[in-house]
Amino acid sequence: MKILVTGGTGYIGAHTVVELMNSGFDVDIIDNLNNSKEEVVDAIAKITGKRPLWFNIDLCDANEIKNYFSKHKPDAVVHFAAHKAVGLSVEQPLAFYHNNLLSLINLLQCCVEAKCNSFVFSSSCSVYADPDKLPIDENAPVKTAKSPYGNTKKIGEEIITDTVKSSTLQAVSLRYFNPVGSHDSALIGELPTTMPLNVMPIITQVAIGKRKQFVVFGNDYPTPDGSCIRDYIHVVDVAKAHVTAVMRLLNKKNKSAYEVFNLGTGKGFSVLELIHAFEKTTGQKLNYTIEGRRAGDVTAVYADTALANTVLGWHTERDLNDMIRTAWNWELYLAGRTDFI
Ligand SMILES: NC(=O)c1ccc[n+]([C@@H]2O[C@H](COP(=O)([O-])OP(=O)(O)OC[C@H]3O[C@@H](n4cnc5c(N)ncnc54)[C@H](O)[C@@H]3O)[C@@H](O)[C@H]2O)c1
Repeated sequence: MKILVTGGTGYIGAHTVVELMNSGFDVDIIDNLNNSKEEVVDAIAKITGKRPLWFNIDLCDANEIKNYFSKHKPDAVVHFAAHKAVGLSVEQPLAFYHNNLLSLINLLQCCVEAKCNSFVFSSSCSVYADPDKLPIDENAPVKTAKSPYGNTKKIGEEIITDTVKSSTLQAVSLRYFNPVGSHDSALIGELPTTMPLNVMPIITQVAIGKRKQFVVFGNDYPTPDGSCIRDYIHVVDVAKAHVTAVMRLLNKKNKSAYEVFNLGTGKGFSVLELIHAFEKTTGQKLNYTIEGRRAGDVTAVYADTALANTVLGWHTERDLNDMIRTAWNWELYLAGRTDFI
């Protein structure tokens, strides 16, 4: 069976390519390297002992994808490719709507025409915006998105919902909470940017000396230590959920044409707990300061994972310590160091 992974040289995509290949699938990657590097294909080959085919295609180009489908005939698609910088999406909404929605529409069009019926979509807990109750289950209302990025996930899910109703397509959307960490080999991980989006890369960058200080935004939230709580999940656990979802669709085990699952651990950790755990696991002292609340931050977000555990049959296997250890090893690898922990 051949799986097309779009965005397969990106952070979560590359980890998923590895897990799919380790499960015996042939994998093709489409990625235009908008936010990733060609060297990731070498790293995947080094980890798995086999080289996936990589196609430098912009998914906004409908003809290019059509050509790919007619020549290579994938059996299933896992669609990661998207712009993901929330802050930038507020400044450049049209670029985000164009890239994230046009690429999805083009891809779905090809899947429907080619009767490639198994489709897994990268969604996000951002579709829940400010949740009314915790933990958040899949029946929680999908709310007005807090950013154009979040809106592309909400609209993306709606486009898929309508497409499965009018075709033979079967789809699963996986709503990730906060993916962190990297592969045990430390050969793939989250690409460092000058403006990391998530807490973990900022912490590791401060600890390695790339940035001066970590800022905790607010210690007066109604949480035990006053800082915000999030559901961090190891990227390899996220990747494995995609293998499970692909197999579910290919084996026709899905209960409806469109299914949605939360991917989290179900446990929330506060920012201060994360800092203290980082210091304990790595032995590094983190330079941090506490400032006022940041606009738009939600007090606490964590998943109800019962549906993913029971219906999808997937469980997380890695804990916070694994997330921190592998994130730190990736930062060491990027710095050319080998003193992994
Ligand atoms: N990382 C997170 O915290 C997180 C959380 C929730 C959801 N997601 C979603 O998961 C998916 C993967 O996220 P990631 O962290 O791996 O991001 P990433 O930026 O590392 O990977 C995305 C990849 O898609 C590629 N891409 C983007 N637009 C493309 C296009 N038009 N044509 C071809 N390739 C294109 C980029 O080059 C990149 O390699 C995204 O859809 C993202 O929105 C991520």
